[in-house]
Amino acid sequence: MSAFFLLLLLMKRIGVMTSGGDSPGMNACIRAVVRAAAYNGLEVVGIKRGFQGMIENEMNLLNVKDVANIIQYGGTILKSARSKDFMSYDGRKKAFDNLKNHGVEGLVCIGGNGTYTGAGIFYKEFGIPSVGAPGTIDNDLYGTDYTIGFDTAVNTALDAIDKIRDTADSHNRVFFIEVMGRDSGFIALNSGLAGGAEGILLPEIMNDFDDLIKHFENKSKRKKEFSIIVVAEGETEGHAFAIADKFNSQFPDNDVRVSVLGHIQRGGKPTANDRILASTLGNAAVEQLLAGNTNVCVGVVNHKVNITSYDDAIHNRKSIDPMLWNLSKILSH
Ligand code: F6P
Repeated sequence: MSAFFLLLLLMKRIGVMTSGGDSPGMNACIRAVVRAAAYNGLEVVGIKRGFQGMIENEMNLLNVKDVANIIQYGGTILKSARSKDFMSYDGRKKAFDNLKNHGVEGLVCIGGNGTYTGAGIFYKEFGIPSVGAPGTIDNDLYGTDYTIGFDTAVNTALDAIDKIRDTADSHNRVFFIEVMGRDSGFIALNSGLAGGAEGILLPEIMNDFDDLIKHFENKSKRKKEFSIIVVAEGETEGHAFAIADKFNSQFPDNDVRVSVLGHIQRGGKPTANDRILASTLGNAAVEQLLAGNTNVCVGVVNHKVNITSYDDAIHNRKSIDPMLWNLSKILSH
């Protein structure tokens, strides 16, 4: 009998959870995990509030009906948390005992780097295999071109940028718009490029504020009237308010405003791209568990499913696309 069929016989019940910051498309991924598991004859236990719910024994069987009518919703029906208790051995032992009582033999962990780290340690100590699926708006995970929720977050930011552009134009103002992304600039680069921003400030780019100042010195000769500058929250020069103050002290004649978009970027209906990505990766994660893989995460690279070890995903930093960065410089010249 092949190893694949042996594992099919051995594994009867898996768990699924969402952990870390939520992202639009997590529900579509949960749905895909439950439906793909059912297709392969597996039962699924839904674990609430990530590792914290595992410790506090908040878990129940999820059947195909339980995931009906959720593909279109943001947030996560399983809720999410960043668990401090799971950082201790005692917490992880409690989590293991609870999983054992529920007959859970493998896990699909939807989240980011912190989730992969926790799941990796858990396997080392207690032997529960797991596969990660990249759920974060930040797109900051190595081994996948896109994370679940990124496309929706970019479109939400873009919608806000378009609206701010209207009022910036009416009043001839310079707007600094801060977007999320933790210490990565993916949301800023994509929303800034799509929103026709005149400047984009990213943590990955050195001296970008100085370049912006030079750009405006030239611009005042050209007398353009309003401007949109998109700032990544992790920008090394500081947050949008501090950057706007600095800018204003150099260009006191400009009417400057700041808008911090914040958690609006974490919610809302997932885009078609995010639903398709979440569905693809939920199914791929189940397939990986069934194939006997553990400590790996699923992603897509060049439109194909890609498998990366937790170690590689955790220890490598994904770079921004230099082609998009150059394009943004050319078009905002
Ligand atoms: O990782 C997702 C994210 O929204 C980041 O972009 C942001 O820095 C952080 O989470 C905010 O975390 P919290 O919701 O805990 O304030």
